Amino acid sequence: MNIKLPGLIDPHVHLRDPGATHKEDWHSGTCAALAGGFTVVMDMPNNTPPITDAQTLGAKQRAASEQAVCDYGIHFGAGADNAAIAASLASQCSGLKLYLDQTFGPLRLDSLQSLVSHFSTFPKDVPILCHAEGRTIAAALFVAQLYDHPVHICHVSRKDEIELIRAAKEKGVRVTCEVTPHHLYLTLDEREKIGAGKCEVRPMIATRADVEALRANLDIIDCFATDHAPHTLFEKESASPPPGYPGLETALALYLELVREGMITLDDVIARCHENPRKIFNVPVQDETWVEVDVDAEWIARGANMFTRAKWTPFEGRTLRGRVTRVMLRGETVFENNCVLAKPGSGKNIRPTL
Ligand code: NCD
Ligand code: ZN
Repeated sequence: MNIKLPGLIDPHVHLRDPGATHKEDWHSGTCAALAGGFTVVMDMPNNTPPITDAQTLGAKQRAASEQAVCDYGIHFGAGADNAAIAASLASQCSGLKLYLDQTFGPLRLDSLQSLVSHFSTFPKDVPILCHAEGRTIAAALFVAQLYDHPVHICHVSRKDEIELIRAAKEKGVRVTCEVTPHHLYLTLDEREKIGAGKCEVRPMIATRADVEALRANLDIIDCFATDHAPHTLFEKESASPPPGYPGLETALALYLELVREGMITLDDVIARCHENPRKIFNVPVQDETWVEVDVDAEWIARGANMFTRAKWTPFEGRTLRGRVTRVMLRGETVFENNCVLAKPGSGKNIRPTL
């Protein structure tokens, strides 16, 4: 059966360009997005160098405008002392990303002062996204509440975290959150099957009880986000494997599996992959844009056949159901028969610069 969905929006990807284009670039990453049914992706700032000033933002805007085949937003990076700069560039960005815990790249905010300076300075109509795990979620929620700034918690992965967010929402805190497909499906029990190096990801995949808790709280999860974080197979199998999984091309089939399992409805998927991210991140309407999906098509996840330059997937060998057959973007067929038809540079920035 073929169904038509609105263009999916992924608020959390790492397309690595500029800085690490051997892992991914704007072209390969947005081709992977179209193949997965995404017509808007929002790119994270932990590039080399990170996106923390006008110059690095400009370099990313140029690279994207030349290469992207779907629409995109660019999240700005919060540094220890760039709150004023971040605020001045907010209108060009889809969000401000704060790293409160260690992950890939140098962007980690350690001081309370820098946390407060960003929440007190950044314009309130642009969301602040936090990579926060465990206790730092409590810190982010409190400071957000104190400065009356909406906050979006990225890739929630643990039972205690999702329960804290539920409690905060019940108290009226302006918090939204996302979960990834891997945290909804994978547990540490799969470590051997996936391979120890490939398995590394932040937040780390967790226990069966954590997966169950995320699934039990799907009603308060605002967005699904892939956290598409490509690294090459060589890097993942090295002595110091960087954390991160590619995810754009397997996500929709996994979301549809939740529907088949009776956990959520198709409308719930549309809310989490289109309506909510559109509202939270003020994504402009894309006219004449939709995705056609054969929901019965079975296929086997094979990294080697994917558009991502990572060429591997933590779901390798898994039988998935649901395949994107066609993507229309602004009235043009941009993806069909597993081919990208859009020209490099046809994707638009959701925060156009003059
Ligand atoms: C991300 C990356 O590789 O950039 N890695 C990851 O494990 N998720 C960084 C991040 O999102 O924290
Ligand atoms: Zn990420």
